[in-house]
Amino acid sequence: MEYITVALAKGRLGDYAAGIFGKAGYDISCLEDKGRKLIFTDEIGKIKYILVKASDVPCYVEYGAADIGIVGKDTILEEGRSLYEVLNLNFGKCRMCVCGPESAREKLQSRVSSLKVATKYPNIARKYFKDVKKQSPDIIKLNGSIELAPIVGLSDVIVDIVESGKTLEENGLGVLEEVCQLSARLIVNKVSMKMKRQILPMIETLKAVIE
Ligand code: PRP
Repeated sequence: MEYITVALAKGRLGDYAAGIFGKAGYDISCLEDKGRKLIFTDEIGKIKYILVKASDVPCYVEYGAADIGIVGKDTILEEGRSLYEVLNLNFGKCRMCVCGPESAREKLQSRVSSLKVATKYPNIARKYFKDVKKQSPDIIKLNGSIELAPIVGLSDVIVDIVESGKTLEENGLGVLEEVCQLSARLIVNKVSMKMKRQILPMIETLKAVIE
């Protein structure tokens, strides 16, 4: 039987995802004592788990280097890759929001003045402003600590993930608009879905655990 390769995001999301495979009855003991290794094999279940950066999970799945992946809806939307999204795993729930100081609210509505938006998610931000708000702001791509941008005057607002709201609160910012709701999803390579017969039963087993 062929191996199924599962791409897990390094960190909390991946740990949680591995837990779901465990609950579904798969032997995830190979994932204990990870050290610096990036690939782990369950020889009996014929599953290889690979640990990749969250934003790279859709890439591995699109090209078939992984058959299956678990990743946040934010990454799926931002990457816009060709793959099947088959299951909402209902964990890692959070929201994508336009955030900023209260004073930015007016400028956010204006179509004349050029608005500056800092974000780790330029594609999501551009699409939201174009489709929903009929605006084309300057999008400034950052890689982290996004909340800093409006505080130091790099941008007027940010488009970012809000989970507990603590980061915003501690930096004197708030949610101005909600872009969409997010959670972890199971994604599958389009060819694997047709060619590997273990995939469908795997999806069904994971689905039963979620429900
Ligand atoms: C994410 C996000 C927010 C924060 C939201 O950042 O970009 O900054 O978490 O969580 P909260 O609403 O519970 O405070 P992350 O921790 O991934 O760090 P980085 O983007 O700054 O690298």
